[in-house]
Order: sequence, then C-alpha cells, then structure tokens
Amino acid sequence: MEKQTKKTILTGDRPTGPLHLGHYVGSLKSRVELQDSYNQFIIIADLQALTDNADNPKKISDNIMGVVLDYLSVGIDPKKSTIFIQSMIPELAELTMYFLNLVTVARLQRNPTVKEEIKQKDFTESLPVGFFTYPISQAADITLFKADLVPTGEDQLPMIEQTNEIVRKFNRLYHPVLVEAECLVSQTGRLTGIDGKNKMSKSLGNAIYLSDTPKKVEKKVMSMYTDPGHLRVEDPGKIAGNTVFEYLDAFATDKETVEKMKKDYKKGGLGDVVVKKYLLNVLEELLTPIRKRRAEYEKDLDKVEKIIKQGNARAQEVAKQTIHEVREAMGINYFGEN
Ligand code: TRP
Repeated sequence: MEKQTKKTILTGDRPTGPLHLGHYVGSLKSRVELQDSYNQFIIIADLQALTDNADNPKKISDNIMGVVLDYLSVGIDPKKSTIFIQSMIPELAELTMYFLNLVTVARLQRNPTVKEEIKQKDFTESLPVGFFTYPISQAADITLFKADLVPTGEDQLPMIEQTNEIVRKFNRLYHPVLVEAECLVSQTGRLTGIDGKNKMSKSLGNAIYLSDTPKKVEKKVMSMYTDPGHLRVEDPGKIAGNTVFEYLDAFATDKETVEKMKKDYKKGGLGDVVVKKYLLNVLEELLTPIRKRRAEYEKDLDKVEKIIKQGNARAQEVAKQTIHEVREAMGINYFGEN
C-alpha cells in the first residue's frame, strides 16, 4: 500500500573506501531525512566501482561491509530504506545491455561528467570500455527501480539528463514502461578536505572518516588548514577559504557562537587552537552517536549480512517485475517465460 503512494528515490555509492564527512554532508544526512517520506533504494555500486578497478576487485569486496556499516551507523534504517548490492541484481546488467544500443559513442563522449573523470584519471589509450559506458549502467540502476528522484550534486546533473534521454528513446521505440527521473539537487555542496585545497576524498588523503577514532579525528582537526597569514593570536584572520570555519558552518548547530567566533577571529585575538578545539567538540557531538551505533552493529555482523540479503531480495522483486515489462515492451519475452 505504502509503496504506491510514496515516490521512489534511488541513490548510492561506489564501495571503494570508507565514507567520510564529505559523504555525510553531501548525501548521508539527507538520506536519513528522506527515508521517512520516500521509498528509498540505496545501491552499493560494486559493478560501477569495478569499471576503473578491474585489476583490484579485492579493494571493492573489502569495502562493502564497511560502507553498509557506515549507512547503518548514521541512521539509515533498513526497515525504511532498501540497501542492496549492484552485482547481486543480474537484471541491472541485462538492462544495461539493452540500453547500450540506445546511446551513441558521440553522445557519451559529450557527457561532461565522464569527460572530466576521464581527464582526471588520465585515461587516454587505457580508457576501459566499461568505464566509458558507466553512465549507461547508472541509467539502468535508476530506471530498473523506476526512481522518480535521484539526489545528486550539481556535477551529476548531466548523468540524469543522459538517463532521461535513454528513457525517452526506449519508451518511443518500444513501449512506454520506463519513467523519467528528476534530480533532487542537494543544497549542501561538497566539503573541502582538511588540506583546504581539494574536495574531501580518500585518494587525496584529506578525509575525516565516520569510522575514525576520537584520537584520529583530533589529530586531523588540529592539523587542519586555516588562514596561513594568521600567525599570531592577536593578528586579524580571514574566514573566507578557512577550512575550520567552513566545517563550523557545515556542522555546528549553535550558529550564534559561530558568528561571534568569526567576528573575533576577523578582529584578531582568537587563536586557531581555540577554534579547532571548538570544532572538535562539534564533530564529536556528531560522531559519538554514529560510533555507538556502529559498535552495536559490529557486534552482530550476522545481522548486517541479513540486512543486506533482505535488501537484495526486496530489490530483486522490483527488478524482476521491471525487466519483465522491458522484455514485453521489446517483444523479446520468448515463450512468455521471462
Ligand atoms: N555514481 C555514484 C558514485 O560515484 C554511485 C551510483 C551508482 C549511483 N549508480 C547510481 C548514484 C545511481 C545515484 C544513482 O558514488
């Protein structure tokens, strides 16, 4: 009953490492908030992760459990959200095969997100076909579940556009069974890493992980980039580009105190160490309950496994139904058996 009234959301992550504060502000927080009002599917995109890690599948399999623990520890509720593993839903690979025929190489080459990633990863002659075509596989992820909404950052907008082009082409060529998805663009942008230079990411070694110990978090916060011109406590300091204040804006609930600190910092007389200690408190307030929940689940990994299996089964149900409709629409449902 509920499923019919609630809109469907599809979201997910590549399991290539533990999730960090950037994931938290960018998506995890909103997933926890959205799970009450939407039918939320969360895909652990191991197939997508393989598209640029074919030589190291262990990196992916090793991180799946950790990512699920990250989800559960921030408060994603397996009763409300369906967490599942991409490779365990073979219909996703099947739908990708059908979609591959609906997209031209030229169109894929124009996808700005992929273009940028290819440049970043320095793929030239070594670009794997699987990586090049991952937007098509991602379109299958979204459409197999008939997602109405996909929460994304601005940079992912071209992916949704490409998905909807595929949907329109499929529906026009065959039969209108697939639905277009809308972006739910998050207001909270990306978080800068503790180096103050780049977006927080595992590969750059500038991340604070949800699973970090208090000691580690302290070490990272104390080493955070601030205003390099702020040498003595009495000097006036800059707020713009100051990572510690960016984090306070992102995580502190007491906005008044933060505004007062900004004023004092700009005027001079407020030291970096004091601000960092305040930030550490703010982060610990966020991370302590997350660690507590993680510890509970870690004590019972069988239960976590069960949650994943149940998620897979729920996803499988929807997948079967949609792929049946897809085959019917295409007229390739031989002998009516699939
Ligand atoms: N591309 C996402 C990431 O890099 C993971 C992902 C796979 C995804 N399929 C998706 C996200 C479908 C949203 C919708 O983490």
